[in-house]
Amino acid sequence: MRRAAHLARRFVGALRPGGPSASDEAWVQGVLSEPEYALWAKMANHDRRHSVAVARRVEQTLAATPEAGDDRWLAAALLHDVGKLDSGLGVFARVGATLAGGAAGHDAADGWSTRRGLTRRVGLYLRHPELGATRIRLVGGRDEAARWAGAHHRVDAVTASGLPPVVADALLAADDD
Ligand SMILES: [Fe+2]
Ligand SMILES: [Fe+2]
Repeated sequence: MRRAAHLARRFVGALRPGGPSASDEAWVQGVLSEPEYALWAKMANHDRRHSVAVARRVEQTLAATPEAGDDRWLAAALLHDVGKLDSGLGVFARVGATLAGGAAGHDAADGWSTRRGLTRRVGLYLRHPELGATRIRLVGGRDEAARWAGAHHRVDAVTASGLPPVVADALLAADDD
């Protein structure tokens, strides 16, 4: 029930039009390298807004820690969902994909990504972590960002990412999808 309410909130939020504000865009440009920014800029409006919200929360959480001011962790936040580029699914289809993935399990979803049409798109959406990690590596983005993208939906994300636990915990807590 909580999950359904959460999905509904996310869905409504994602319907708001437009990308991040001009000042947020400038902030992102200052944090990311040129190729990382080019990759980030390809994401849909609501995914870019989500990524900025996550990065701002991480910046705030880390402010009181020895990791404050390290751009690597903000880059990890900004690029964590970049693998969603591969599915091309809109907001409506994503809710269905998330529910279907939860019901069938991610092992089944791996098979879907080798199929065709919508089934393939749903499979790719559910595999967005590893696809994002690959995209970040392909453009020469930071290794920490690639590792976080690949690990962020795993139950052992903190360990799997190899990031400092305080950073991985902040990234997890800031990501609301
Ligand atoms: Fe994600
Ligand atoms: Fe996310």
